Amino acid sequence: MYSSQSDSRTSHFSCIDLHYFLLFIYILEEPFQVLNLDTLIQMHLKWLSYLPRVKPFYAVKCNSTETVLRTLNALGTGFDCASKGEISQVLSLGVKPENIIYAHTTKPQSHIKYACAQGVNLMTFDDEEELRKVSRCHPKAKLVLRIAVDDSSSFYRLSSKFGAGLSTTGRLLECAAELGLEVVGVSFHIGSKCSQSLAFRQAIADARSVFDTAKLLGFQFSLLDIGGGFSGKDFPFSEVINGALDEYFPFESGVQIIAEPGRYYAETTFTLAANVIAKRVIMEDMRKEGVDTISQAYAGFSLQIPDDMATHSISSVTSWAALRGFCATSFWATSCMSAQSYRVTVAPQAPMSSGVLSVAGGV
Ligand SMILES: Cc1ncc(COP(=O)(O)O)c(C=O)c1O
Repeated sequence: MYSSQSDSRTSHFSCIDLHYFLLFIYILEEPFQVLNLDTLIQMHLKWLSYLPRVKPFYAVKCNSTETVLRTLNALGTGFDCASKGEISQVLSLGVKPENIIYAHTTKPQSHIKYACAQGVNLMTFDDEEELRKVSRCHPKAKLVLRIAVDDSSSFYRLSSKFGAGLSTTGRLLECAAELGLEVVGVSFHIGSKCSQSLAFRQAIADARSVFDTAKLLGFQFSLLDIGGGFSGKDFPFSEVINGALDEYFPFESGVQIIAEPGRYYAETTFTLAANVIAKRVIMEDMRKEGVDTISQAYAGFSLQIPDDMATHSISSVTSWAALRGFCATSFWATSCMSAQSYRVTVAPQAPMSSGVLSVAGGV
């Protein structure tokens, strides 16, 4: 079910064929996501106008729906793949190997060999062990050194797990040279849902320092990958990012700039519709919370709704809950994990009943 409506956030259901809607929600009780292709295309056009120097390599892990991948391929993006499965999926859709970056710093040997056999050469690393693996499995790879950056202003932090510390980059490059490997550039990921534009500026400056170290060691770097972390709602950081790129990697430097946006494309493009399949009133919580009624609704979806989605999906859930007369309600996924809850608070009116819950966002 694909919609042609351009603003999926303001009117979630008007774009869905009513018969499908009734079938899925009331008869089959199955949750589903609605993909708005217009939104996807608009997001891409916005990217081109706000970050004209940066070619996006869509992070397939974020949402690998075939229509999304086909559309982005037709629009000319590249793809960030994190596994053999993702590489195989995008290749099967006709994506050229040179439009893929294997952006996982810790890869199984068999996946590296697969990438090699398919002509996927661009891949990231952040330690010596990975360099030795690549030299055995894909000696002609074009390696990108992922550095750890200050991700303290991001909702999902990644640099404690991935990325080489700046003080280790010289040693890593020497190791690559000893192994006869080609390193072509630097990547970083600022962390997802970054809230401080200056974090990007500092990370770009850090990447510049690694370029300078590499030059001293005889490398000719030609690629900067500024990762993901971009909000799907707007582009508040484009001015700072463009300014930092122009300062540290001016156009004349000839350095190719790419990024790995995931949520940027997927978040507003998808809307989840799920059925509320059960409910209960929690009496003991009422005094504690100081509200008239607390309800729990069990919605028919099995994924975790991340906390940060509340910032942009609260309106759809709240308006639904208000319609139903909810007071303070937690929505729970049907899996056994208690982490999968989602609380909204609306004015008390009538008792809760079952119905349909829509949550914007697709990650
Ligand atoms: C290596 C890499 N690239 C890109 C992404 C996509 O990040 P975002 O959704 O914040 O754009 C991720 C997310 O975890 C990642 O790990």
